[in-house]
Amino acid sequence: MPRSAFHFKLQLFITFLTFILSQSSCSSCPINVWPKPRTFSWPNPQANPLSPSFQIISPSHFYLSKAISHYLNLINTEHHLPLVRPFVNFSSSSPPLRALRITVYDLVTPLQHGVNETYTLTIPSSGGTASLAAQTAWGAIWGLETFSQLVWGSPSRVAAGVYLLDKPLFPHRGLVLDTSRNYYGVEDIKRTIMAMGANKMNVFHWHITDSHSFPLVIPSEPELSSKGSYGSEMVYTPDDVKEIVEFGLSHGVRVVPEIDSPGHTGSWAEAYPEIVTCANMFWWPAGSDSLDKLAAEPGTGHLNPLNPKTYEVLKNVIADVVKLFPEPFYHGGADEIIPGCWKADPAIQSFLSNGGTLSQALETFVNSTFPFIVSLNRTVVYWEDVFLDDLIKVNSSCLPPEHTILQTWNNGPNNTKKLVDAGYRVIVSSAEFYYLDCGHGDFVGNNSRYNQPPGSDPGNGGSWCGPFKTWETIYNYDITYGLSEEEAKLVLGGEVALWSEQADPTVLDSRLWPRSSAMAEALWSGNKDEKGVKRYAEATDRLNEWRYRMVRRGIAAEPIQPLWCVRNPGMCNTVHPI
Ligand SMILES: *[C@@H]1O[C@H](CO)[C@@H](O)[C@H](O)[C@H]1NC(C)=O
Ligand SMILES: *[C@@H]1O[C@H](CO)[C@@H](O)[C@H](O)[C@H]1NC(C)=O
Ligand SMILES: *[C@@H]1O[C@H](CO)[C@@H](O)[C@H](O)[C@H]1NC(C)=O
Ligand SMILES: *[C@@H]1O[C@H](CO)[C@@H](O)[C@H](O)[C@H]1NC(C)=O
Ligand SMILES: *[C@@H]1O[C@H](CO)[C@@H](O)[C@H](O)[C@H]1NC(C)=O
Ligand SMILES: *[C@@H]1O[C@H](CO)[C@@H](O)[C@H](O)[C@H]1NC(C)=O
Ligand SMILES: *[C@@H]1O[C@H](CO)[C@@H](O)[C@H](O)[C@H]1NC(C)=O
Repeated sequence: MPRSAFHFKLQLFITFLTFILSQSSCSSCPINVWPKPRTFSWPNPQANPLSPSFQIISPSHFYLSKAISHYLNLINTEHHLPLVRPFVNFSSSSPPLRALRITVYDLVTPLQHGVNETYTLTIPSSGGTASLAAQTAWGAIWGLETFSQLVWGSPSRVAAGVYLLDKPLFPHRGLVLDTSRNYYGVEDIKRTIMAMGANKMNVFHWHITDSHSFPLVIPSEPELSSKGSYGSEMVYTPDDVKEIVEFGLSHGVRVVPEIDSPGHTGSWAEAYPEIVTCANMFWWPAGSDSLDKLAAEPGTGHLNPLNPKTYEVLKNVIADVVKLFPEPFYHGGADEIIPGCWKADPAIQSFLSNGGTLSQALETFVNSTFPFIVSLNRTVVYWEDVFLDDLIKVNSSCLPPEHTILQTWNNGPNNTKKLVDAGYRVIVSSAEFYYLDCGHGDFVGNNSRYNQPPGSDPGNGGSWCGPFKTWETIYNYDITYGLSEEEAKLVLGGEVALWSEQADPTVLDSRLWPRSSAMAEALWSGNKDEKGVKRYAEATDRLNEWRYRMVRRGIAAEPIQPLWCVRNPGMCNTVHPI
């Protein structure tokens, strides 16, 4: 065993012993870290000065080194002033903490699904050098974030006599951002990724294209964005993508691209009208039944599964996207096929009148693209619709579970169970818990729903997924509800989602934060305390503090309570079950 490996194990063992010996004295110690660490021990809450020449000592690793520059700067300059004075002893004459030494056992493993994210952090009460040990660079980045949250004040002080052993409950902790309905600049995306990393969220699911605009520059199909974007200023070039992917890696965040198809593709018609059915038609013609809509919302267009040209273009897109995004997951969308849109096409009409079905048309589409994506060494992620839709879906034989992950958004835990029962790995994005855009009403114009006599029941505000999901709704959702232990193993984790019909950079931060932080903690260390009781009361105070710290870091997270509540912990709680 190499010396460093031996040291690492020895250190783990000693720290583990310390932990066992002192755990009972500390389960209720306040620790202002978000997400809350899985296990920590801080028997005598104390803080020491942080040396003005504080340093981080680390093995060399391309992304970890970038993370260290980021965190060293943050740690030395943040000077966070807690809203509530921490309950710790501090003496400016205590020996200062001079350095943090990082040990990484495996410097080779790239950032990918399931990578070992475990880290331990020991900050001695005697000052000197703290140690952060992790299996991979990615776990070490999480340890740096935790360390940064244990530093506060001006001059800086740092928690001391503390030991943490931390690792996530779920390996997939993501956020979906839709950049098609409205455009976000590269800086907005990077700020979002930075905030994700600070919350130990590790997957930025980038819903890049949709019916409304096609902002991604595809080198082999440049007209898709030159004609299908909102304008030459509202595109993502290959250099922009590289910048975002690299930025993600230095914050522990994978960037998973989604090119939604065959639905949600109206914007492709600007360059290739011949491969898109029902493009630029009115989404819900006057006098027609709701079932005869051409789109789920304004912005029509589906790729035509029966036109060979569709696959020429789409395979060029897929091949370029795979080159732009090193990430092993590829999200193919495949949600919300609207029958009316395909039925508007003459070739599909004759296919149907010859006995074909829309589900067969979708199977043709999946069979013509899925094996191609797999041949490029990618695991395919689709929305659950491809398999669970009431009307148009494919046979599971087209979607071998070893290459397929399905993302659920309907019917809460019921659909999660259906998917795992069929043997699929699942990402949970249940709309009634995890959709961050909900609660802003409907966006269609001329909406008589809002012109009702006073006293009419406002219901959910006229939005299919209203009401607004509060941070506590998100925090308390148990994504494996109703599953056996065996079934729960197929649940990889979850993703909150911001669909952008009514969002753009002006509201991005406040729609995402701190509500995404609620999911981040629930998936990292759970939403219950050691006794198995939901811990939303304790979390309220910590989340207030964390939201305030995020704001100081440049994330315009919305408040969750009046400042008075923050300064008077517990006084805004209810002590009655409601
Ligand atoms: C702070 O130190 C005093 C005196 O040593 C001790 O009585 C007290 O319990 C300590 N407080 C905490 C929070 O550790
Ligand atoms: C992750 O790494 C830690 C530290 O090396 C190790 O103890 C643990 O067994 C690893 N976990 C897995 C699942 O390999
Ligand atoms: C396929 O992807 C895996 C990661 O998912 C990687 O380890 C492997 O090297 C890749 N194989 C090829 C041939 O690129
Ligand atoms: C799925 O395909 C298999 C094999 O072709 C077939 O036996 C089965 O009946 C199909 N299931 C459905 C629901 O169409
Ligand atoms: C799609 O592929 C599956 C699995 O190979 C096959 O059973 C099915 O018949 C194919 N469907 C169509 C419409 O080609
Ligand atoms: C889930 O299924 C149960 C039992 O069939 C049903 O009562 C409940 O309404 C369903 N929940 C959702 C969100 O669809
Ligand atoms: C507004 O909606 C009404 C029906 O509710 C319709 O008759 C009218 O044409 C619509 N006006 C516009 C401008 O779309």
